[in-house]
Amino acid sequence: MSEPVRPMSPADVARRLDSPVPPVFIVNAALRLRRLLLRAADAVVPAYLAVYDRFMGAAHTMLVHSAARLRIADLLLEGPLTGAELAARTGSDSDVMERTMLALVSIGLFRRERDGRFANNGVSKGLRTGATGGVRGFAEFFGHEPVMRAWARLPQTLQDGKKGFQEVHGRHAWDWLASDVGVQAAFAEGMSSMTEVVAPAIAASYPFQDVKTVCDVGGGVGIVLAAVLRKHPHLRGILFDSESMLGQAKDYLEAAGIADRVELVPGSFFESVPRGADCYIIKTVLHNWEDPEVYTILRNCRAAMEPGQRLLVPDFLVVPDAFSTLVPFMDMAGLMIYSGRERSPERLAAMFAETGLKMGRIAPLPGVQAVFEAIAV
Ligand SMILES: C[S@@+](CC[C@H](N)C(=O)[O-])C[C@H]1O[C@@H](n2cnc3c(N)ncnc32)[C@H](O)[C@@H]1O
Repeated sequence: MSEPVRPMSPADVARRLDSPVPPVFIVNAALRLRRLLLRAADAVVPAYLAVYDRFMGAAHTMLVHSAARLRIADLLLEGPLTGAELAARTGSDSDVMERTMLALVSIGLFRRERDGRFANNGVSKGLRTGATGGVRGFAEFFGHEPVMRAWARLPQTLQDGKKGFQEVHGRHAWDWLASDVGVQAAFAEGMSSMTEVVAPAIAASYPFQDVKTVCDVGGGVGIVLAAVLRKHPHLRGILFDSESMLGQAKDYLEAAGIADRVELVPGSFFESVPRGADCYIIKTVLHNWEDPEVYTILRNCRAAMEPGQRLLVPDFLVVPDAFSTLVPFMDMAGLMIYSGRERSPERLAAMFAETGLKMGRIAPLPGVQAVFEAIAV
């Protein structure tokens, strides 16, 4: 079980929100190049080797989960360690640790020195606790046994179309999350770092100088609001989320230095959305839900808006030529874990049209995401 995430200091917030992120076109060009090189290698190596890597995906998940859970990247911050030393520090079996580390090195996480000790490399930086854009929390979350058992239902789901997690465990993944503080902390850590990477780009993607109050719907602890309000000092914010989430948001907003400009409004977007803002944001919420729920959320957002006002929807960008596994895998996670789906710009536009909104600009974000602008008609 992971430890709860320690509260952030103002310096943590500033460091994490102000870290430079490479431009979208460079990230996307690198992802395309990686896919091209992989295809070129696949064309040359025997098929069994090319396919082997893919069907051993469960090994990848569990190896990275174990490294994340034991915080191996943090332990290696001081310098390289042997497998036996890592085992001693984590209370693990020495032989299994050595073999696990060798397997992790084989998939590009961590490095093995000439003397046999293990060290961090560029990729394992992403597994460090508190790293900007780090995915330690998600790596831990996605390897938990209930998640793996949900994935194992895919052959049946292919036949009956039923959701993985709900069918296997008899409850929604969000209910499981809410019932286990360690799992919830791992998910929150992953979600926060993914949001921190794009929050500054969201703040720069829209002419916020023309609005007065921004409402973040399902805004979590307020990371997007923090980026937007820090960049635009004239703005006020409304953070709308569940009572329990807003309880966790207070410390973050204080640390971000914007608590006095943000009104916390508890509630459910299935009931209503607060009025009184002149710009709304809903980030990576819609993809967690199926169409009937999304229609309800969009209608409730529209009911709070005046004609001409904007609802900004930062979410994953489905492109016909998927050059990263991120979006197709997220879509599968929607099916097998969360009960949601990724939607193409055309599908989103059609849903906007049915809920009194129309698609405006689509501004790309780093990491195969975009801000979809929905304008109230
Ligand atoms: C995937 S997280 C996204 C958080 C934030 N927008 C971000 O991108 O970092 C989904 C958010 O929706 C909130 N949420 C879930 N159900 C909700 C509801 N019925 N009403 C309001 N917020 C809800 C959760 O508490 C959580 O903060």
